[in-house]
Amino acid sequence: MNFADSEIVASVLSDNYEVCLEVKKADLILINTCSIRENAEQRVLKRLVELNALCRKNHKVKIGLIGCMAARFEKELIAEGLVDLVAGPDAYRFLPLLLDESYQQPVNTILSTIETYDDISPLRFHSNGVSAFISIMRGCNNFCSYCVVPYTRGRERSRNPETIVDEVKQLIDKGYKEVTLLGQNVNSYQWNHDVRFHDLMDKVASLDKSLRIRFATSHPKDLSDNLLQVMAAYPNICKSIHLPAQSGSNVILERMNRKYTREWYLQRVEAILSYMPDAGISTDLIAGFCGETEQDHQDTLSLMQTVAYDFAFMFKYSERSNTHASKHLHDDIPDEIKTRRLEEIITLQQQLSHKSNLSDIGKVFEVLIESRSKRSDEFYSGRNSRNKVIVFPKSHYKIGDYVNVKVDNCTTATLIGKIVE
Ligand code: 5AD
Ligand code: SF4
Repeated sequence: MNFADSEIVASVLSDNYEVCLEVKKADLILINTCSIRENAEQRVLKRLVELNALCRKNHKVKIGLIGCMAARFEKELIAEGLVDLVAGPDAYRFLPLLLDESYQQPVNTILSTIETYDDISPLRFHSNGVSAFISIMRGCNNFCSYCVVPYTRGRERSRNPETIVDEVKQLIDKGYKEVTLLGQNVNSYQWNHDVRFHDLMDKVASLDKSLRIRFATSHPKDLSDNLLQVMAAYPNICKSIHLPAQSGSNVILERMNRKYTREWYLQRVEAILSYMPDAGISTDLIAGFCGETEQDHQDTLSLMQTVAYDFAFMFKYSERSNTHASKHLHDDIPDEIKTRRLEEIITLQQQLSHKSNLSDIGKVFEVLIESRSKRSDEFYSGRNSRNKVIVFPKSHYKIGDYVNVKVDNCTTATLIGKIVE
């Protein structure tokens, strides 16, 4: 999401600035921040100190803090002279104003109920020219008890579907082959009560058969059969769903205010597989939430076994100020126990990912070539519909081509294969 937002910021500033990826040459450095876990914030604070040491001496550089940390730190960081301006996630249109020398208080952290930046064409400065992110909704109304997002990014609001379709058409004209529709809670997208997320997917997928569509992140409670039917109907909608479970224990799910049970979650997984037997499912999991017992933790491990996730983002619970959990629950699991439980979750996920990858050996997948492989210049890297990364020798193809790749080997994280003509 921040990646997509940075492209909006680059566009907002494009009349006066051009993108410079070398920190030492920059006149303006903007750090787009995330508050979701404490270590993300700690890394930003460390980076700010380093950037001040590196850039302030010889150069009249300006440093700005943008994104989720803005409202949480605006006063301290300006007072300490570590940043010159602060802009929250809904204040990017005001950046030219905040950068104006005559502006007295270069801080705007006001959250909006309507801002979707729908008229701003993102400046895709990091793009490979093949895959693009498109932000379709912002904010979140779910208030999971551990999560700071509803406070840092504000209320949920969806973007006008016509502007989304126009943006996709422009990308198709420029030769893009894949779009990922983004939102904190993407499948609760709704415009004027008559365009739901599955309607939007239908509109976008029907534009061009050779354009792949992905989306992230879905909330299990909003995963409708209508969406699964649309996904199954279009070969160009990728057959992968990121469906954060967070925990496998009903007691913890209730305490997290996730609004579903383990049984409901598993029933949604069954629905996915009944419409799309080859779909890949991935997840987010939190280890050591308030009051989590050994049995609750075992329930998470058994959920993982049952679903057999392709991959997972796995975290230790990190208490965030202002959240319901920080005010009303005890962060009572000692760090050693959180660490041990997280390690058990990671170890199990590695086994599941490896098993799933081993079962792909011998299969042929259609792969969109996205980049050169990091491990060798002689190899390309791309993904199959199920979102698995596949590396393979380049042959005479180019980035942006679709190729069929036969898998002959794998690691825990990657499939390895060869193009078959
Ligand atoms: N502690 C740990 N992980 C968290 N997440 C969100 N808030 C917290 C927190 N306080 C995780 C959730 C979410 C992902 C984006 O970050 O798993 O799905
Ligand atoms: Fe946070 Fe829950 Fe909203 Fe996801 S759905 S952003 S975890 S409050």
